This record gives sequence, C-alpha cells and structure tokens, in this order.
Amino acid sequence: MKGRPVQKLLCIARMDLRLFTRREFLSDSAYVAAWLGVGRRLAATTLPEAREITLTARETTVEISPGQTRTTWAYDGRVPGPEIRVREGERVRITLRNELPAPTSIHWHGVPVPNAMDGVAGVTQAPVSPGDSFTYEFDASPAGTYFYHSHVGLQLDRGLYGPLIIEPREDAGATADREYVLLLDDWLDITPEQAFAELQQRSPMRGGMMGGSDDPLYAAHLVNGRTGGLAAPLAVARGERVRLRLINAGSATTFRVGLAGHRLTVTHADGQRVRPIDVDTLVIGVGERYDVQFVAGNPGVWPLVAGSIDSPLVSLVVPLVYERTLDSLRPVTVWPSELSRGRALRYVDLVPVERMTTPAPGVVQTIPITLGSAMMGGYVWTINGQAYPNADPIGLDPGARVRLRVTNATMMRHPLHLHGHFFTVRLPGQTSGPAKDTVVVDPMASFDLDFVADNPGRWFFHCHHLYHMEGGMARTLEYR
Ligand code: C2O
Ligand code: CU
Repeated sequence: MKGRPVQKLLCIARMDLRLFTRREFLSDSAYVAAWLGVGRRLAATTLPEAREITLTARETTVEISPGQTRTTWAYDGRVPGPEIRVREGERVRITLRNELPAPTSIHWHGVPVPNAMDGVAGVTQAPVSPGDSFTYEFDASPAGTYFYHSHVGLQLDRGLYGPLIIEPREDAGATADREYVLLLDDWLDITPEQAFAELQQRSPMRGGMMGGSDDPLYAAHLVNGRTGGLAAPLAVARGERVRLRLINAGSATTFRVGLAGHRLTVTHADGQRVRPIDVDTLVIGVGERYDVQFVAGNPGVWPLVAGSIDSPLVSLVVPLVYERTLDSLRPVTVWPSELSRGRALRYVDLVPVERMTTPAPGVVQTIPITLGSAMMGGYVWTINGQAYPNADPIGLDPGARVRLRVTNATMMRHPLHLHGHFFTVRLPGQTSGPAKDTVVVDPMASFDLDFVADNPGRWFFHCHHLYHMEGGMARTLEYR
C-alpha cells in the first residue's frame, strides 16, 4: 500500500472541504464522521470462516438533505442500509428482524443463492411477519458488487436497500488503492403505494402516459441516502488508483454518470469482470452495477455528476476532493460538455473476461419473451400478454442451455432482472456478450439472454422498474 496514512489524508481532505463546501458541509460533525467512514483504504484482511449479520427493518427518520428529515422504512435506521462486505466463498448468515408494521423479506440482488434463500416473498418464501425473523444463509460467490433489498411489493422504494460487496478470494488481483461505494436512488415524498395509484390515474386511456412519463414523480435523487447538496465528498490522494462501485438502487430512474476531469475505466458489469474500457459517461439501469476505476492524476476539486437519462439536468453532484487542493467546486446544473460530448459506454463495449458457466452440450431451449403493456387502460405491463400474478409459470429443463429471446414491444425502457443466474447478453450481430443479471431493454429493441439452467427452483424474472413489476411485468421460471 502506497500513499499516506489514512488519518492524515482524511484530515487534509476535511480542511479542503472548508474551501468549497460552504455552510452545509461542515456545520455538522456527525455528517463529517459519516463520510469519513465511506471511503476505505484497501488492505488485505483475514476474515472469519462464517459471518453472522443481523439487519433490522424498521421505521426510521433520515436526513436526506440539510435540515430535511423524512420518516421512512430502512435497515438498521439508515438509508442505504449497512454495507455488507464479505470474502468470496465465505459462509454468510444474515438474520432479518422485521420491526415494520408490514410483512417483508430480503433479496440478494445478483447473487445466485440457493432458491430458498432468494427472498422473494410469495415465490421462494412466506413473507416475514411483523415481529418475526428469518435467517438467510448462503455462500458468498462469485465476487462482485451487489445489493440487497426488500422483495415485497414496492417496499424497496421506501429505502429498504443496502450494498452487498463480495471481495475476491485472492487479494493478488487488487488493483485499487482506495474505493467508494455509491448507491444511486430516486426518492419519493409520498408512499410508493400512493405513487402507484397516481400512475394508474395517468393510464393510457386517460391520455397521460403516451406522451409523458411512465415513472412516478420523484422529489429528489439521492447518492448514499443524501441529495447532492449533502453528498459525501470522495477524498483522494494524488496518484492513487480509485475504484467506484456504482449501484443503481433506484426504483424507476435510469442514471447517467460521469466524472469531470477524469476518464473512467469500466472493469466490472453487474459484479463480473469485463475487459477494461475507458469512457467519459455510463448509463446505469435500475438494478445494474458497474465498477469503474480512475487514476487520481488531476489535482483539484471535480464534480462526479449523475442525473436521469431522460433529463438534460444534473441531479446529483459528488465532489471529488484531492488532498492539499486550494480549488473550490463550481456549481453544476447541466452536464459538463466534455462529458456529454465524450465517449459513452455501450453494451457492445462489454467483453467478458471469463466464462461464467459451461453450457451443457446439446439441449437448447428457446423461450420468446415479449414485453408489452395493456392495450386497454390501467397501468398494466405484460410478458407475453399476461400480467403477473395472473400469469403462467415458464418451465425450464434442468441443465438446458436456455435462450430468452426478448423483444420490447413498448415505447418504454425495461431493466430486466433474472434471479438465481447470470445470463449472457447477446446483442444483434454479436456471438458473445457480457455476463449480467440485469439488462436494460430499450424501446422496440430485441436481443437474446442466454443462460444455463443450473440452479434448480422457482425463480423470479421481472422488470426492475418497480412500478412495471407491480403492474404485472414479472414471471416465475420454474425447473421441471
Ligand atoms: Cu433486485 Cu427481483 O430483484
Ligand atoms: Cu419495465
């Protein structure tokens, strides 16, 4: 490990904050303490054989921006919930205690856990009643950036989510000196259930949806539970290689992200290694994760910016602060032009480094998946014309190489997520593609998602736009 000791670096960064953050940033020492904990020096650690963790879901009050508090549902009283960081291959035992006034569950988004541990209430387990507990147990594998969240109705959109990081077994390949985990979120000022009711009022037959948005009206965007005005700075030392783990934990918003003054090297998509690719911006669909790295070689204070792909405005600004800088951050409201004109990541850029699975020879099962919406009124979203839960399960042949032939027949974007498996995204004209668990299907687009049916059970498959899911765009895939 090179660079200076962590304490010193953070002190310097804290001094620098005075120069640019003005009143909101330094007034609150608890706040400073909070962000000091966010960045971590990467160091080899020995971890125990099994990990016992408890997460308590309960109502809580959070401060999302200076002086703005909200009462919501969260894990351990904070949004995002506590970071779970384990070593690949470790046994993890996580107990969910439900202190909410409603039934709940936890899903380990992206991790191919055994079916009974997948946390989809009504599909893989009974919902955990208020006052009850449930213990999830699985081996943390493969390494990567994941998150956990409630899988009951629209609860995720209240703030019931947190980061789940599985570090590689070997430290030899560690290529970063410092790392930050950034969870992006869209924040409602009403309950998700109220938001869903409003969407139903704006249904196509009422003329609202066709020309407008199919998303709830969000009050703000958050990074690590704070609006841009209270976002924790990213402190770095010159020369460090910095990793950002970017997680879209929002419920409907597709985010674009970029870092002024630096190019980002994308190293992992949905936790899985890809051939490093340099970009200026990347789009992160709901439920997707990207690991990116940059070299801190351009001293100063720079904005990491993010905003909805459907807006020209920047809604989140996270200051990147070099130690010993005298610069200050200028306000950013629109995309810095060197970013918006720059190189944007596309799915065809993602070339897998290793094969996730070896397909069974011979058996190929092709399943057409057409994403649609109801022709006649209501906020109804369909797969092959059926809206979940009034939908037939899709049967899988154990061991088969399955091809989901996806067509989006709507004018909306759908971030499709498959539980329990990684799939290979095969874009038109491509013979291979990245291993992912969530993929954004653009309006009228089609491509194949290939996977091996090697994890028996009943698995949920759905649009991760939570309101589309709630509106019916979901199925179970069930091994025969
Ligand atoms: Cu992020 Cu069905 O889950
Ligand atoms: Cu959708």
